[in-house]
Amino acid sequence: MSAVLASLLDHPVLLGAALIALLWFSISCLVQWGALRAARLAKRAAPPCFRAEGPGPGERVHVAFLGDLQRGVLDVPRALAPALESGGADLLVSSGDFVSHGEGPYYGVLLGAFARAGIKTPTRVVPGNHDLWPRRCKDDRIGGEAFERAFGPRHWSLRAGPVLIVGLDNGADWLIDDQLPWLERTLDEHAGVPWICVCHRPPYELDAPDTPPVRDMVELAALLERRKPLLVVAGHLHEYRDELVNGVRVIVNAHGGDVHGLALQRDDFELLHVRVGPEGTEVEPRPYRRRKDPHTALDQLAVRFWADRRKWWGALLGLPADLLLRLLGRSVPIVKHPVERRIPAREVLVSRRREALETR
Ligand SMILES: [Fe+2]
Repeated sequence: MSAVLASLLDHPVLLGAALIALLWFSISCLVQWGALRAARLAKRAAPPCFRAEGPGPGERVHVAFLGDLQRGVLDVPRALAPALESGGADLLVSSGDFVSHGEGPYYGVLLGAFARAGIKTPTRVVPGNHDLWPRRCKDDRIGGEAFERAFGPRHWSLRAGPVLIVGLDNGADWLIDDQLPWLERTLDEHAGVPWICVCHRPPYELDAPDTPPVRDMVELAALLERRKPLLVVAGHLHEYRDELVNGVRVIVNAHGGDVHGLALQRDDFELLHVRVGPEGTEVEPRPYRRRKDPHTALDQLAVRFWADRRKWWGALLGLPADLLLRLLGRSVPIVKHPVERRIPAREVLVSRRREALETR
C-alpha cells in the first residue's frame, strides 16, 4: 500500500487522476444513497391521521385549513401538531399542493414528516397540480395514483359538526364537470345542511374585471351560485384573498408552506381557522412560527439526488456506485416521464381517464 502511495506521489498526473476518481466515487455513493433512500420513501405508508374518522355531525366544529405546503414540509409539520392541539381543531384540511411533485418519493417525504410530527388531528386533502403532476410532466395519473394510495379518493365529502365539507379535484385535470352530478347528489342527500367547498384552484379569475369563472369551471361556478356554500376555500395563488363573487365567498389560503423555493429565511406560515356553530361562521387566518425537522431535510436532499439522476450529469455523477450496485443487484432504476410543458387537450385527458397507467 505504502509502495503504491509512494509511486503516486512520484507521479503528479497519476496522483491527480486517482484523487479525481476517488472524488467521483464518493459523490456517486452520495447520489446512490439518495436514490436508495428515495426508493424506500416511495413505499412509505400514510400515518393514521389521514385515515382517522372525521368529527361527524354535531352542534359546532373547528376546521383548520392548510394552504400550499410544498417545500414547507421542512419546517411546518413539527409546528403544526402543537398548533392544532392547542387550538382545539377537530379537522385539518389541505387545499392542495401538499407535496412538491406528484411522485412517490415526494409523498414519502411528507408522510414521514407528518408521522414524526405526531399529528393526530384527522386530516383530509384535495389534490393540487403539484400533487398530481411529476416534474415537467402533465400526466395526472402518475401523481393521482400516489395521491390515492396515501390519502384516498381525489374528491370526497365529510360531515363535520353542523356542516358538510366537500373536497373537489380541480388540481390539474380540467375535468371538473365530471364531478358535478356527484356533487349535486351529495348536496341533495344533505339537503338543508350548510356546506363548505374545498378545491385547489379558485373557481373565479379573482384579478380579472368582473371576476369571471375560470374557463374550465363555468359549470362549477353556476352550481356554487345556485347552491351557495358558506365558503369556498382554495389555494394555488400566492396571496391571501377573501372575496365575495356573485354571492359566493371565496378565500385563497395562500401561506401554508413554501412555494417560492429554498429561501434561507422564511416568514411564519398560516392556518385558516374556520369555526361554525349556532352563533355563525368565524374565519381567522393565524400565523405560526416554523420548526425545522433535520430528518426531513435529509429526506429532501435524498429525493433531490434521486431526481437529478434523470439529468445526464446526475446519471454521470452517480455512475461508479451505480455500476457497483448493479453488480450487487441493488441498483435503483432511473424513472423518466414524458416531458409535457402544456396541459393536454381535453380529448387527451378524457382518453387518459379510460386508459390504465400500465398500458401507456
Ligand atoms: Fe397550485
